[in-house]
Amino acid sequence: MTVHPPLEQIPADILAAADYEDRAAQHIPPPTLAWLAGGSGTEQTLRANREAFITVRITPRLLNNFQTASTCQSLCGTSLEHPILLAPVGHQQLLHTEAERAVARAADATGTCMVASTLSSLPLEDVCAATAASKWFQLYWQPRREDTLRLLSRAEAAGYQAIVLTLDTPVQALSRRAHIAGFRLPSDTPPNLAECKPLPQRALAPGQSILLHGMMSEAPDWDDLEWLVTQTRLPVLAKGVSHPADAVRLKTLGVAGQIVSNHGGRSLDGVPASLHCLAAVREAVGGNYPLLLDSGIRSGTDVFKALALGADAVLIGRLQGYALATAGALGVAHMLKLLREELEVCMALAGTPTLSDINPGCLMGD
Ligand code: FNR
Repeated sequence: MTVHPPLEQIPADILAAADYEDRAAQHIPPPTLAWLAGGSGTEQTLRANREAFITVRITPRLLNNFQTASTCQSLCGTSLEHPILLAPVGHQQLLHTEAERAVARAADATGTCMVASTLSSLPLEDVCAATAASKWFQLYWQPRREDTLRLLSRAEAAGYQAIVLTLDTPVQALSRRAHIAGFRLPSDTPPNLAECKPLPQRALAPGQSILLHGMMSEAPDWDDLEWLVTQTRLPVLAKGVSHPADAVRLKTLGVAGQIVSNHGGRSLDGVPASLHCLAAVREAVGGNYPLLLDSGIRSGTDVFKALALGADAVLIGRLQGYALATAGALGVAHMLKLLREELEVCMALAGTPTLSDINPGCLMGD
């Protein structure tokens, strides 16, 4: 199958943000597409994420006045023109030569914030310097605290406005789909981790597990989290929350906001759709506390449903990758523009002029 280079203009047949998914297959080699699209295990959670959005229904209301309509808001000190952020997606050079720089330009052009991954193809300083717009840095905990600290202080010095600490993947395997397609991650260490060192190998006692006693001994725990939030002046958000009790504990320990997420079905397979976890997490943390959601969003009505169930904003993972591969910065900006327009159409038809008008009452009960 021929893989076409990224386009320099938007294809006329892309009418909805979700159209980028089909289109991207022309621009991404099949093994890389399997990596981007796939989920863990037998992809139960990947499917559940999509099904959840389909089962939630909106109840439209009539005749509401839109003179003060707005999609703007501020989250953890970052001003946004609309509630659709770009999720951290590592290794973007696999999708486009301009990689995270293109995504940064798209975020800037569309009034939103990108979250740059620890596993970015470009150094975090280059990504931040690509535009003047606000950006957040996604942090993966490193086995040695000094390496985690170095990433934190580099992110602060570069000018990021918040840290997003991902907690749902202390271990992660390549998906079965990617394995079968012959995908391999780049063998080079991602540039942000070039100075990080592994811990000396821990001798395992007979009968001990490489995974449970080896790899998991390097994973962060609650003490590490408590320490981390005291090490930076930036707000720290936790990504990968599903359980209300975790959400309450994170909030109590000073985490400034949370992202309800199952890593887009790429972490533990068999967990519920993130959308289905959202309302309970919102109830647990209370109002007036930044709560975001990702995993499965493909349209503006999906964004509306997430907001109705308690999210202040959402993040977009795979659609970002599909649009990046299809048409670089232009593609990602266009995808975001479409998502925003789809959300605005939904707000107009549902009768909700502002984001704060979108609440559980906008949804149909079972
Ligand atoms: C991710 N995700 C991710 N998350 C993170 O915290 N750090 C990372 O480096 C990555 N890398 C990454 C690569 C790829 C190819 C994908 C698809 C995803 C997870 C991402 O931030 C987000 O949680 C999900 O992608 C959201 O689900 P959707 O929008 O892809 O359905």
